[in-house]
Amino acid sequence: MMNTNEINSLILVLLAIPLLFIIFKNYYKKSKLKGPQLPPGPTPWPLIGNIPHLGKLPHSSVANYAQIYGPIMTFKLGFKNLIVGSSPTIAMEILSKQDLILSGRDTPRAFPHSRQELNHISIGWTEDCNESWKNLRALCKSELFSGKTLESQESLREKKIFDMVDFLKANEGKTVNIGQVAFATIFNMLSNILLSRDLISLQEDIERSTMKNLLRGIVEVVSAPNLSDIYPIFNELDPQGLRNKANSLWQQLWSILGPIVEERRKNIHEANQRDFLDTLIDQKFSDAGFNEILMELFNAGADTSTSTIDWMMAELIKNPEIMKKLREELDIEVIKQGKIKESHIMNLPYLQACIKETLRLHPPIPLLLPHRALEDCKVMNYTIPKNAQVMVNVWAIGRDPILWENPLEFKPERFVNSPLDFIGKDFIFLPFGAGRRMCPGYPMAARQISLVIASLVHSFDWSLPNGEGPDMLDMKEEFGITLQKKQPMILIPRPRK
Ligand code: HEM
Repeated sequence: MMNTNEINSLILVLLAIPLLFIIFKNYYKKSKLKGPQLPPGPTPWPLIGNIPHLGKLPHSSVANYAQIYGPIMTFKLGFKNLIVGSSPTIAMEILSKQDLILSGRDTPRAFPHSRQELNHISIGWTEDCNESWKNLRALCKSELFSGKTLESQESLREKKIFDMVDFLKANEGKTVNIGQVAFATIFNMLSNILLSRDLISLQEDIERSTMKNLLRGIVEVVSAPNLSDIYPIFNELDPQGLRNKANSLWQQLWSILGPIVEERRKNIHEANQRDFLDTLIDQKFSDAGFNEILMELFNAGADTSTSTIDWMMAELIKNPEIMKKLREELDIEVIKQGKIKESHIMNLPYLQACIKETLRLHPPIPLLLPHRALEDCKVMNYTIPKNAQVMVNVWAIGRDPILWENPLEFKPERFVNSPLDFIGKDFIFLPFGAGRRMCPGYPMAARQISLVIASLVHSFDWSLPNGEGPDMLDMKEEFGITLQKKQPMILIPRPRK
């Protein structure tokens, strides 16, 4: 039997449904009458819009709809418009020609900070490209990603490679999870550059690591479908408790980062040991500012590079002749230089082609991060209304048979002797995006990935467990924080003699 409260709630819901339905119908009637022509798309369902059309692999569902509706489409997420571009021409319109207007971010309401505060302390989630965002990006560029700074970090990254190789040698003949080893290595490369310390141990069960779970929890909670994001009547509410949950996760993160910051405030580093934390202290960052920027850099930098390494190892195992060719290139380099050095391997054409080919087929952020229209604007004669969420399906562009010969084939040769690069100038290849909101961390990512892959391929022979052949490798995708392999990449290392 229901109690009185439950009966009251039921009555409320029953009353709310027709009301929402009427609002929804009027809204659509009005938006049709007003006339600005939105790009086409599948017919939305009442209230929920096209949410069911997106499915578990939205990048792939949206690519299928592009076959029917064309390269620019509208989807309704509740009351919100989502515009998706799926061709290089549309990508150029969105990320270059209309970049100024479309460079806002659709910031999830689950963030525990007020909009005003977030606009001041964030880099990835400011609502527009405001002065604070410009200053933060400039700071990151000069202190983390410039050529000179990257060179000065080389020995830190190489040290983490020694740890990884030692760990794998100690696990000779045993199964290892490549994604976990890569995550710990990349994460510690980042944490040493940012804070001069390891925050994850290669020995621990990475899936249980507090740090990894906290960061993953934060991304999950802000990217979860949230009624407050898609129905204006819930804007200021937190009906699913996501904001509350996010608040608690941010506090837990600060319980780890706060003491490190406090200790450093008391004991500033010597000039020759300075790291990014010293720079943030010089800039008088607030506690919330430290927590936010460090969280964003860890989240943006670790899972993306890890997923690229995981996919690349899977492709190399599946294509032994490509693995052999890459190893030959690395062997020659090591004979010449005596060891794998970051500055040298950045110029190895086949290694760089393999990385690009992996990013073409498996871009870690297949739809980019959600942009937002700051004003109404036109793309290809269609109207993109103010506040619409805007995405570019770089996954679909990377697999378009009109643009790429045998697009599903892993063929690094297509990038050898080709000027195509991922620096945001070639709109058929955009794993890091383009324009104002383009990933600022791509020069660092390129170095991290090159170094890890070169060491894995040069130092070890790899086999699949249980005598499995490469043909049996499961290459299914899972859409989550990044586009990951659904099945973890488990391999057995044997040091090369
Ligand atoms: C393979 C590795 C990586 C890939 C594929 C990648 C890709 C991306 C993409 C697609 C975006 C969104 C672009 C847009 O919305 O138009 C982005 C944003 C961002 N990335 Fe990366 N990224 C990688 C590594 C890194 C690293 C290593 C860092 C820093 C440590 C980083 C920091 C950021 C930041 C801060 C943003 C937000 C930029 C803004 O909104 O202004 N990323 N990244």
